[in-house]
Amino acid sequence: MTPKRILMLGASGFLGGHLARQLSREGHFLRVATRRRDRAKQLLTLPTCEVIEADVHDPAQLAKLCRGQDTVMNLVGVLQGGRGEPYGAGFARAHVELPRKIAAAAQAAGMRRVIHVSALQAAAAAPSGYLRSKAAGEAVLREADLDLTVFRPSVIFGMGDQFLNVFSSLLAAAPFLPLACPAARFQPVWVEDVTACIDASLHQPESIGQTYELCGPHQYSLRELVDYVGMVTGQRRPILGLSDTLSYLQAWVMEFIPGAPLSRDSYDSMQVPSVCSTRCTLPTLPFGRRATPLEAIAPLYLSDAHRRARNDILRKKARR
Ligand SMILES: NC(=O)c1ccc[n+]([C@@H]2O[C@H](COP(=O)([O-])OP(=O)(O)OC[C@H]3O[C@@H](n4cnc5c(N)ncnc54)[C@H](OP(=O)(O)O)[C@@H]3O)[C@@H](O)[C@H]2O)c1
Repeated sequence: MTPKRILMLGASGFLGGHLARQLSREGHFLRVATRRRDRAKQLLTLPTCEVIEADVHDPAQLAKLCRGQDTVMNLVGVLQGGRGEPYGAGFARAHVELPRKIAAAAQAAGMRRVIHVSALQAAAAAPSGYLRSKAAGEAVLREADLDLTVFRPSVIFGMGDQFLNVFSSLLAAAPFLPLACPAARFQPVWVEDVTACIDASLHQPESIGQTYELCGPHQYSLRELVDYVGMVTGQRRPILGLSDTLSYLQAWVMEFIPGAPLSRDSYDSMQVPSVCSTRCTLPTLPFGRRATPLEAIAPLYLSDAHRRARNDILRKKARR
């Protein structure tokens, strides 16, 4: 297969790191743009990857990044984008204005192929700014004359995720867990399944113009997932499921904690189940791939992450 020259935006993050490693293994040439080079340091050793510090929101810098590339992959996403109608300013900038700039830069550079990572349940009438802005970003790219493929994953799990690992750390630190939105539903998909589908789409012309939902084989409530993390890490704690009002209040308070995993907007996102629209009876993904069960992967990385979190707590205590 002919190697591609791929401009990757948002590749310094969790999904991007896994995807860059996979694409580099395949022999593709990657140009990773990041706002801070040190955030992408894990990619510096990849043999076919160049990391460039740039302001991707600046059309001139974006035009320069596009030069000589044949594909652009947009993985930029934010969970905290502020409040507002139809979405906060941070969501508008990262999820809508940036795709508009990407479309313009790609067209100016004569680059047609665009792969865009959105989110499951993105819709103009969705309950959160995150999901509404993700839908608007997709729409902007669809309006442009480009060879576009959109991926909409449910929550993604795997080594380094900010989902199961966060609960693992919380369980290590607390005697019980007050859990917002315990009944929220998810259909978690393994990061390597997501990267395999994105990689496959590069070689499948029929993926152009398609939007693919990416889900794992099973659905769970948030309470079930947290309880499962406790079981795998040997730290099962009582889970105190919060009412709707208390969940919203907890989300509001957590907005004041930098990098907190919860906000009022993520509370809003959880009002819609993050599960595939067609109830899958078979664990199938696009391009004939079978979705990997969470139970086959999560124990492999959670117990290590949990050990590290517990050691961190013990180290902090020892310094007192
Ligand atoms: N993880 C999930 O469970 C999940 C589920 C569904 C959809 N998604 C979507 O998948 C994509 C990747 O997710 P992820 O979990 O890998 O995210 P992540 O780890 O938070 O990484 C996000 C990336 O976006 C870039 N970024 C963030 N804010 C930006 C801004 N204002 N301007 C420009 N770049 C910005 C960051 O790049 P620099 O800081 O290096 O510039 C970083 O590389 C996102 O679009 C996300 O919405 C993720």
